Amino acid sequence: MPKQTIRDLDLKGRKILVRVDFNVPQTKDGAISDDRRIRAALPTLTYALDHGASLILVSHLGRPSGDPTTDAPFRLDTVAARLAELLGKPVKKANDTVGQEAIAIAYGLQPGEILVVENVRFNKGEKKGDPAFAAQLAGLADAYVNDAFGTCHRDEASMVAVPEQFAPKDRAIGFLVEKELQILDTLLKHPKHPMVAVMGGSKVSDKIGVIENLLPKIDNLLVGGAMTYTFLKAQGHSTGKSRVEADKLDEARKLLELAGAKLILPVDHLMAESLDPTCRTWIVEGSDLPDDGIGIDIGPKTVELYGNLIKAAGTVVWNGPMGKFEDEPFRQGTIGVAQAMAESSGVTCVGGGETAEAVEQFGYADKVSHVSTGGGAFLECLEGKSFNSLRVIPDL
Ligand code: 3PG
Repeated sequence: MPKQTIRDLDLKGRKILVRVDFNVPQTKDGAISDDRRIRAALPTLTYALDHGASLILVSHLGRPSGDPTTDAPFRLDTVAARLAELLGKPVKKANDTVGQEAIAIAYGLQPGEILVVENVRFNKGEKKGDPAFAAQLAGLADAYVNDAFGTCHRDEASMVAVPEQFAPKDRAIGFLVEKELQILDTLLKHPKHPMVAVMGGSKVSDKIGVIENLLPKIDNLLVGGAMTYTFLKAQGHSTGKSRVEADKLDEARKLLELAGAKLILPVDHLMAESLDPTCRTWIVEGSDLPDDGIGIDIGPKTVELYGNLIKAAGTVVWNGPMGKFEDEPFRQGTIGVAQAMAESSGVTCVGGGETAEAVEQFGYADKVSHVSTGGGAFLECLEGKSFNSLRVIPDL
């Protein structure tokens, strides 16, 4: 059911609290290593500003512990500075979220001005969904917009209790959430066939719910990443020193049975002597891996097989890298899948933090239909879960 969007809100001369997900990856020295999530919020922010609103932006960054010394890297100053650069206009930053400083700046905001309040997770009430904290946060603004797709699976105060403080006519989703929900709806409810799901990453356990929910809708499930070796082990093959989830073999067997011929495992593997990127590597064909090697990526024949299925598909959804792509020698499988996605004429959607990062890093982000800003939220949507953060936004 479509949700009320920012287009339906009265914006002129009003203070709009926008919950954004500026939880961006950072380098060791605190610089933003990928600002995609900030850029993805810009259409909503510029729309509201162009329609005469002032903005109070609320986000979390990381998982702060509550200790102000160790939590310093999670302050939002760098994020606010990056936003100012992207918008080409000043952005005010408060050193608290609902304290004196935030209240004073929010009170004085004029149409067209923007305030970023401090990391919402610095407040104990956020995680707990505390209504008293929610009332303080909501008290800063006249209306609420959820444009934090990456956080929609969380029941934290700024996602659920805060919007509940506003009248239903003053709650909406932003353009980013709208776009993410539309593409997921297409994928899950009206996919063009053949539909292919590509699942990688290290753990089968992370994907059980997704695979179960997708299986009835898809034509093929292409498996890569270390979860391959759990499936191979479950089939009785030797997996050498590869990573296997020994306690998930029964579940893997159940999935293999459920999926039947839809589930396709790699036909060859890049083996490595160790996880060190300078170590010796070699290709092994078939399903039995040698005792002295670690399966570290899909092999070239698998890249070709998967690539052909992806290119011929009407819809492709991809989550999870094919190998240890952070290291140059182990990334050909992930690059091969990204390239096939780019060459496919179908609807191609990539989701999940690492996969989106890989696609961006290898230069394919603009060549696929959609790169989701969601990690856990994207996966939970693929699992078919519904979110309280969206339940509190009225349907149209
Ligand atoms: C994410 O990066 O998936 C979101 O920002 C949510 O972050 P969290 O997993 O720390 O709740």
